[in-house]
Amino acid sequence: MRNKIKVYTKYKTKQITDKYDAWILEDACHAPGGYFVDSKGIQQNCGNGSLASQSIFSFHPVKHIATGEGGMITTNDEKTYKRLLDLRTHGITKDPLKMEENHGGWYMELQELGFNYRLPDILASLGISQLKRAATNLKKRKEIATRYDEAFKGLSITTPEYEEGHAFHLYVILTDRRKELYEYLRTKNIYVQVHYVPVHLMPYYRQFGFMKGDYPVAEAYYEKCLSLPMYPTLTMEEQEYVIQTTLEFFG
Ligand SMILES: Cc1ncc(COP(=O)(O)O)c(C=O)c1O
Repeated sequence: MRNKIKVYTKYKTKQITDKYDAWILEDACHAPGGYFVDSKGIQQNCGNGSLASQSIFSFHPVKHIATGEGGMITTNDEKTYKRLLDLRTHGITKDPLKMEENHGGWYMELQELGFNYRLPDILASLGISQLKRAATNLKKRKEIATRYDEAFKGLSITTPEYEEGHAFHLYVILTDRRKELYEYLRTKNIYVQVHYVPVHLMPYYRQFGFMKGDYPVAEAYYEKCLSLPMYPTLTMEEQEYVIQTTLEFFG
């Protein structure tokens, strides 16, 4: 395990965000249940507001908590929270303190153009039921990661370096033989994947002038990265098959 992460405390991030009138938005889509231990030894759970003004989680089918589609934003800032509630429901408010008029109990006002970003109740109930399994599933992910770490110790690949609070949405190895390994494992019915193609190389961003060479670290990572199967229902036998097939590939 590496040293504890040296992080900006809430106080310091507040100094920075105040200075530049900025927010910190945390993409926590891979990190439900994740945490880090700060330089004072305090466990900071992902999305608890200690670092970011808002943390965004995804409930896409492959994520830790899946509702089919949808997601969640966490914030400790009441003003942001209330604004998000309004935006989520078309920009409509029923708050008497905010309304310009009040005709009675039925009355509501559209005060700005918002969105229909409500998570359907049926999907929310699926998410609630998944919450019960979240801790166990996270533990299983960590066990899978530990087994991969052990199994690949002798190989000339790079396995992930991580802190104790890693949530293991993915287990990404780096190898110079990525394409070959990808194809080999796929022919053996092992569904490996590449995460991710650098965003600046996508045609949409290239039209704005981004090009190969702009972000050499991301590009070098992309050339070598391969995500091995990582999900809580991966059985011991299946993982053993992934390990043995990978070892076989490297001879
Ligand atoms: C890191 C990260 N951010 C954002 C998203 C987008 O999430 P959603 O598809 O729920 O909008 C994803 C989804 O794959 C993701 O992996």
